[in-house]
Amino acid sequence: MSQIIPVRPFDYVVFGGTGDLSMRKLFPSLYYREMDGQLPDEASVIAVARGDLTDKAFLAMLDETCRNHIDPEYFDPKIWKRFKQRFTYKRLDALTPDGYKGLTKLLDHSELRVRIFYLATAPRLFGTICKHLDSAQLVTRDARVVLEKPIGHDLASSCEINDEVGKYFHEDQIYRIDHYLGKETVQNLLALRFGNILFESVWSSAVIDHVQITTAETVGLGGRAAYYDSSGALRDMVQNHLLQLLCLVAMEAPYTMSADAVRDEKVKVLNSLRPVTDGDVASSVIWGQYTEGAIDGESVPAYATELGATSRTETFVALKVNIDNWRWAGVPFYLRTGKRLSRRHSEIVISFRSIPHSAFPMDAGAIANNRLVIRLQPDEGVGLQLMTKDPGPGGMRLRAAPLDLSFAEEFNVRYPDSYERLLLDVVRGDSTLFMRRDEVQAAWRWVDPIIEHWAASKAMPKGYPAGSWGPTSAATLIDRDGRSWHEDMH
Ligand code: BG6
Repeated sequence: MSQIIPVRPFDYVVFGGTGDLSMRKLFPSLYYREMDGQLPDEASVIAVARGDLTDKAFLAMLDETCRNHIDPEYFDPKIWKRFKQRFTYKRLDALTPDGYKGLTKLLDHSELRVRIFYLATAPRLFGTICKHLDSAQLVTRDARVVLEKPIGHDLASSCEINDEVGKYFHEDQIYRIDHYLGKETVQNLLALRFGNILFESVWSSAVIDHVQITTAETVGLGGRAAYYDSSGALRDMVQNHLLQLLCLVAMEAPYTMSADAVRDEKVKVLNSLRPVTDGDVASSVIWGQYTEGAIDGESVPAYATELGATSRTETFVALKVNIDNWRWAGVPFYLRTGKRLSRRHSEIVISFRSIPHSAFPMDAGAIANNRLVIRLQPDEGVGLQLMTKDPGPGGMRLRAAPLDLSFAEEFNVRYPDSYERLLLDVVRGDSTLFMRRDEVQAAWRWVDPIIEHWAASKAMPKGYPAGSWGPTSAATLIDRDGRSWHEDMH
């Protein structure tokens, strides 16, 4: 059973408080926590943005926008009314120091209260906002700042942002969000690996042949053209979410689940990723951009049409990654992610080696390698593909069959959005599921040469029709090693 542990009273000051992330994710997540009775009476939210809105107009905006992102099954007008009373709107131009003093009046200054600044803004504003908060004497030793990804667009810019924010907040006050870490199934990976004796002895190159990590989306640019076109799939998904998943699969067992013990292990993995040299990019990294196609029978325009311009931004990446350490030597990790793919589907597949010798007769059929499939979304769960005897007469014939655990069926609970967990972890002061500075930087260090290679080349990303599984070269990337994407097996 889930447990609702109350948190300390807090003031959440959300910069970008009228933006897409706030309305679509942050505020609906807080509503669910309200619904579960986890928010103390005194908790308040101050939405900060540039628009000239009254409190009333802001609340109307919550009704029109945020409310649509709450599942009607869980929407309760009484709870909604109570929830809305927590909000105040503060008009502020984040770049000029003038308005910050005005925030002082809106905050509770008692020591028991947790003060959080959530920066759901462009990362180039992070440093300036922190500076102005500090000048207005709003940064107490216990205050926290939450930084939305991306932290910069390369190693140099991420160092600049981290340096700037670090002038006003200590590292233990900085919470860098990677919302994938808040997903239940991602946390389940830790439970699966370190709560069961079964897996540890087979979790290495001795028994594992390769690992696949896929995060496939059907959505395209949405309303984020300006951000996305200057970012692309490598920066938007691989540098953070996919590398974080890779870390959780590949890390050594931490001695405790404390924030630093977990993050120490993750950063070791990032530091042991084999650098991608210029010569490797062509063979190990595939980039693509969607062209016109159809998803679920609906036609979908090309990326360039959605954008209204030609562009070299990749909406798909597939990579072969090597981890140069004792446990993983010789075990490739194939990662892929893309927009406008065939369906929304994220999973981690651990593919085991073949058996060393088959004692079965030739007509028993082929023996498929065991696979452990961790489904992140949709239908969160775990599946283990095993070889079994085909039932009935006909001699010893073998058949692959799944041992399947669907979390929704097993536990019959609502799966919380990752932000629900993360927003309250900040209040609790638990940074286990947030990225430490050295992790972010190690990830950029590894990704940068790929970005630089693409920037220097004249090549365009490979086209792939919307509704497919990416460019054909993504299949070749894995096929030429005698393997195939798990998806292709259905
Ligand atoms: C975000 C990316 O971090 O993650 C988006 O910026 C992407 O481009 C999203 O769509 C995917 O998250 P989820 O939780 O829907 O898999």
